[in-house]
Amino acid sequence: ASYDMGGHDTYMHKEIHEQADAVDRVLRGRIDDRFSTVHLGGLNLDAREARQIRRVKILGCGTSYHAGMIGAQMIEELARIPADAEPASEFRYRNAVVDPDTLYIAVSQSGETYDVLAAVQELKRKGARVLGVVNVVGSAIARESDGGIYVHAGPEVCVVSTKCFTNTTVAFALLALHLGRTRDLSVADGKRIIAGLRRLPEQINEILKTEDEIKELAQEFADARSMLFIGRVRGYPVAREASLKLKEVSYIHAEAYPASELKHGPLALIEPALPTVAIVPDDDLLEKNRAALEEIKARSGKILAVAHREQEKADRTVVVPKNEDELDPILMGIPLQLLAYHTALALGRDIDKPRNLAKSVTVE
Ligand code: G6P
Repeated sequence: ASYDMGGHDTYMHKEIHEQADAVDRVLRGRIDDRFSTVHLGGLNLDAREARQIRRVKILGCGTSYHAGMIGAQMIEELARIPADAEPASEFRYRNAVVDPDTLYIAVSQSGETYDVLAAVQELKRKGARVLGVVNVVGSAIARESDGGIYVHAGPEVCVVSTKCFTNTTVAFALLALHLGRTRDLSVADGKRIIAGLRRLPEQINEILKTEDEIKELAQEFADARSMLFIGRVRGYPVAREASLKLKEVSYIHAEAYPASELKHGPLALIEPALPTVAIVPDDDLLEKNRAALEEIKARSGKILAVAHREQEKADRTVVVPKNEDELDPILMGIPLQLLAYHTALALGRDIDKPRNLAKSVTVE
């Protein structure tokens, strides 16, 4: 398919800049202010069934898997249901125990990724309940699931996913809120999350205004041979996705690590030639994250922080607007989409079609 580039030089750039509108679409018509919850018409899950869920298992590949990691944390935090994400390809081949009280969620932009589809089919065959969190309406995974949420990101053409990632994390926030409000999430917390969701589009546009600053940073990073991305808890999946984005589009090697694990290995690599990107939200782990920055600084590592305020130990900080703690991961990766883009541009890469990659992998 080919769509108008609307004055952008690549689809990736266009799609990054469409994110405020895309988030508007995933929210539209779904917020229920009366009960401080959300309506998700396609879920096919009544309140009684929702309350019977004892675990949530999220399956996806690539960027969708990372969105699922964020979703799992949101579900666990807001609904207090144990949740985790796993690459669909791994899940399929380890003869996982399929449990009737677990809600399985398949995540896919295209809705056609073979490993995800095969996992859905195997789960269904064993009688599990499977929901889809999918972008493409009517796609195979959407059809084969028992219900689900369309993320309404609109067509995504660039092989590397940006706006669909963001919309998928918002869709998970909606699901987490919905499940939470059938359980113990209070009306006040429901209101707080809804207000946070409504702030997202404007905050995204604010982040996109930092593009010139990030473009400048990208010139500095373009000659790095490798980069380290770190974060803890909410920041960790953001680090994973940012590292994937950079690899895919710039071909610079990148590795994501929980900041808490630095001392168990990666500190050995720190030197001026290995820059670190640190995700530093203003949450209860702020001091812990700052300590990690100090460890890196003490070894002369160069640091770029993505944070809610200037970080003294970092060489540069990109400041992003603060939302509710639970929703911060939705925003914190957006500057790093721009970093990946501008690094790739500086290196003259084929941004919309990176070598060796395909938009959707419909074979094994
Ligand atoms: C391919 C693409 C990735 C994408 C992954 C999953 O590897 O290159 O960008 O994240 O497939 O695709 P899906 O359509 O299932 O989200």
